[in-house]
Parts: sequence; structure tokens; C-alpha cells
Amino acid sequence: MEWNSLVEAAWQVREQAYAPYSKFAVGAALLAADGRLFVGSNVENLSYGLSQCAERVAIGAAIAAGARNFLGMAVVADTRVPVSPCGACRQVLAEFGVPRVLLANRSSHLEFRLEELLPRASAGILDRGE
Ligand code: THU
Repeated sequence: MEWNSLVEAAWQVREQAYAPYSKFAVGAALLAADGRLFVGSNVENLSYGLSQCAERVAIGAAIAAGARNFLGMAVVADTRVPVSPCGACRQVLAEFGVPRVLLANRSSHLEFRLEELLPRASAGILDRGE
């Protein structure tokens, strides 16, 4: 996986983050199997719980554009250690089988497989043993 273009796009879209409440800007870039790159920044709300994470904004853009197969996502923030996706985003990454995730700050990065971020994401759900 060649991450450079994803990381670059994620830093770029992070500039568009709408984060007046947390002042914590996040950028995400998602590479589809057909070569298209989709980006997202976090979008906060006065009603804090309505805030959307950068990861899910990127996935929403990709799905709305018709992409269904993905190679990987890069997530960036200006943190001391690379930022970590929330549990809800991990579940959504699992829904669409995004196989690899690169988490980066300005000086380092960590790469994870989906199964490491969320083990057994779909095991047993809607499984009635029929
Ligand atoms: N946030 C993301 O967008 N992605 C992450 O991986 C971590 C957290 C956002 C949500 C909220 O707008 C702000 O960062 C603080 O949690």
C-alpha cells in the first residue's frame, strides 16, 4: 500500500475541518479499489453528539459516489501520538471492509489491519443459526 497520496490528501482536507467546539481538526482520505480518492474532515455541531468524524464523512462521500470496494484509509491530526478512530468509526470501516488504516501525526504513523482495530466486527450479528 502506497500511502503518500492518501496522507497528503488527508492533511489537505483537514484544513476544511469544522471543529469550533473541540478545536480538534481531523482529516481522512479513503482510496477506492477503482483508484478514486475520497476525503472527509470532521463536522461538529452545537449539539455535540451530532458531530461527525472525518472517517465517516469520507466513507459517506465514497458511498454516495457509488464506490463500494476500498483499499485503505489514512487519518491525520496534529497530535502527540497518531490519532485513533472512535469505536463508531471502526464499526463503519468494518461495514465497508476497509482493509487497512494508517493513522498519522506530523512526525510518525501507525498502520493497522481492520481486524486489529475491531476484532470480530460482524460475528454472530443477525446469525440465528438457521
Ligand atoms: N474525531 C475525528 O473526526 N476522528 C477521529 O479519529 C477522532 C475524533 C473528531 C470528532 C470531534 O469532532 C473531534 O475530533 C474531537 O473528538
